[in-house]
Amino acid sequence: MTEPLLLTETAAGVRTLRINRPDKLNALNREVIDALDAAFAEAARDPEVRVVVLTGAGPKAFVAGADIAEMHTLTPVQGRDFSLRGSRMMRRIEKLPKPVIAMINGFALGGGLELAMSCHLRIAADSAKVGQPEINLGLIPGFGGSQRLLRLCGRAATLELCLTGAPISAERALQLGIVNRVVPATDLETETMTLARQLAAAAPLALRGLLDCVNVGGECSLEEGLEYESAQFGLMFATEDMREGTRAFLEKRKPTFTGR
Ligand code: COA
Repeated sequence: MTEPLLLTETAAGVRTLRINRPDKLNALNREVIDALDAAFAEAARDPEVRVVVLTGAGPKAFVAGADIAEMHTLTPVQGRDFSLRGSRMMRRIEKLPKPVIAMINGFALGGGLELAMSCHLRIAADSAKVGQPEINLGLIPGFGGSQRLLRLCGRAATLELCLTGAPISAERALQLGIVNRVVPATDLETETMTLARQLAAAAPLALRGLLDCVNVGGECSLEEGLEYESAQFGLMFATEDMREGTRAFLEKRKPTFTGR
């Protein structure tokens, strides 16, 4: 029996998706892209899932990029379709109404860094290396790399990474604001799961409102973003979780959130 390309596990509200092509450093071919797209759509629908953790199988890589062997023979039209396929899947992740954490356990290169950047939070092992090496293949990023990197860490770092193609260390990625945290490789799983469980215990509708605010705010004027935040804030007063959270504070106890 062939191994699935995506390993799925759910515990205590945390769904872990592990890309499972370790012999190819988890490179993104069309099948993996489609499997991720379906898995994230399912995670969005499943009320048991409060948080998603995305990682790669094996000791070396999160994802070492789009599949170069598959891309090598594509025509221009197929190249565009391949780009759209990956981009749409990553946009689904970015707009997921639940937090998604990239657990970067090794190389996150090209499509791997693009995939990590479409997640809401990134925790990297100190041994991880990230970069946009497409230039070395006569290519440019095709799953949003030039755009998300620009928004995450600005023009100078984006141009440096994309023009040189040179990978950088996790520590440097932290300095540039590309990742949220760097932890010793041996602690990566524990630290990520601690954060994931913390988010899984938070009020799901508030998490969703916040993700919406940041997604919308990143793409509109400050005035429009502020209006949007006020509307989302008001919406929270319709939730049982908001009543529970504020009541629990006043009663000096821990809240229990139900997602209603
Ligand atoms: N696409 C397809 N296959 C890939 C791949 C990718 N992006 N990255 C790695 N692989 C494959 C290799 O071809 C090799 O397969 P093989 O054993 O059948 O020959 C296997 O994964 C292991 O990779 P290898 O290069 O032997 O590992 P390494 O430890 O020597 O080097 C990297 C690791 C990440 C530095 C190197 O694999 C690399 O540069 N990968 C491409 C990165 C890239 O350019 N990504 C952007 C793509 S747009």
